[in-house]
Amino acid sequence: MIKVENLTKRYAGQTAIRDLNFEVGQGEIMGFLGPNGAGKTTTMRILAGFMPATSGRASIAGFDVFERSLQARSRLGYMPENVPLYNDMRVTEYLDYRAALKGVPHRRIAERVGDVKELCGLREVERKLIGTLSKGYRQRVGLADALVSDPDLLILDEPTIGLDPNQIRQVRELIKNLGKQHTILLSTHILPEVEMTCSRVIIIHKGRIEACDTPENLLGQIRQAGGVVVEAKTGKDDGAEELKKISGVREVITDHDEGWQIFSLRVESGLDVREEIFRLAADRKWTLRELSQRRATLEDVFVEITHSDQAEMPI
Ligand SMILES: Nc1ncnc2c1ncn2[C@@H]1O[C@H](COP(=O)(O)OP(=O)(O)O)[C@@H](O)[C@H]1O
Ligand SMILES: [Mg+2]
Repeated sequence: MIKVENLTKRYAGQTAIRDLNFEVGQGEIMGFLGPNGAGKTTTMRILAGFMPATSGRASIAGFDVFERSLQARSRLGYMPENVPLYNDMRVTEYLDYRAALKGVPHRRIAERVGDVKELCGLREVERKLIGTLSKGYRQRVGLADALVSDPDLLILDEPTIGLDPNQIRQVRELIKNLGKQHTILLSTHILPEVEMTCSRVIIIHKGRIEACDTPENLLGQIRQAGGVVVEAKTGKDDGAEELKKISGVREVITDHDEGWQIFSLRVESGLDVREEIFRLAADRKWTLRELSQRRATLEDVFVEITHSDQAEMPI
C-alpha cells in the first residue's frame, strides 16, 4: 500500500529524514514511533503529497506521490498534526464541504457524512460550531474528515496528542476498529500507544529508521534486557557500586523506601544476573526482600535501539 525508497528530505541546512526505506502492506496498522524532531511529520507530509522530497521515491497503491499525485491522494485520508478546521462552520456542514471537495458524488455525501459521524462519535455535536468543540471532539472531526472519502489508507499524525486519558482510550479503540477495514500509518511519540494498536512498528530517530518489526519481536529481541529490580538493606556497603561490578550490568539506578534501597538494573541482552546478585547479597550479608526480573517494555527497546538514555518518551 505504501512503498518508500531512499526517501530524503533536507530543509535549509538540516536533514530531517535520511534515506528511509519501508513498506506498509494492505491491512496493516503500522506504528511510526520516535521522539519529537525524529522526522515523522516530514515523512507523512511527503506521503500525503503536501511537499516534495529532496530525493528518493514514495508511492501509494502503486502511484508515485508526485508524478501521479491525484491518483495517490484519492486513496488516502490524512489527518495532520494540527488539524486545520474552520471554526465558524458546523460539524455536518464542514464534513459535507470536505466530502464534496474530495470528490464524493453529490448523491452519496449525506450518507457518507452520516456514516463517519456515527463511526467517530460525532452525532451529539453535529450541529455545533467547530470553534466551540473540545480538543477531543476536534480530533474526531479531523479523523472523520480523513475518513469521509472512504480511503483505503489512513495516515494519522499523532492523533491522540493533547487528549485526556479517557479521550485517548476512545480514539485508540476507534483506530483499532478502523484497522479492520483500512491500512493505517500512525505516528506517535507515546510508546504504549503502538504496543496497544499496531501490528508493526517503525522506530525512527534523528531522521533514520532504527528498527522495523512487530512489537512482539522487538520485545523478544531484548526480552532479558528489561532489567532486574533488587530491594535490599546493604549496611555499610555501597550497593550500587557492588552491583555495577557484576558483568553484564550496564546501569544501576538507586531509590529509597524507608530504610530499604531499591536498585533498578539495566542488563545486557540475554543475560540473567539474578543468581550472581543472590550470591553477592549472601556474601555481603545484605538483607534481600525483592530480586526480580522486570518484563521488557517498548521503552526498553527504544532505549536499547537508539542508545539514548533519556528516551524523551512520556508514558
Ligand atoms: N519547515 C521546516 N523548516 C526547517 N526545518 C524543519 C521544518 N519542519 C521540520 N523541520 C525539522 O526537521 C526535523 C524533523 O521534524 P518533524 O518531521 O516535524 O519531526 P517529528 O514529527 O518526528 O517531531 C526536526 O529537526 C525539525 O526541526
Ligand atoms: Mg510531528
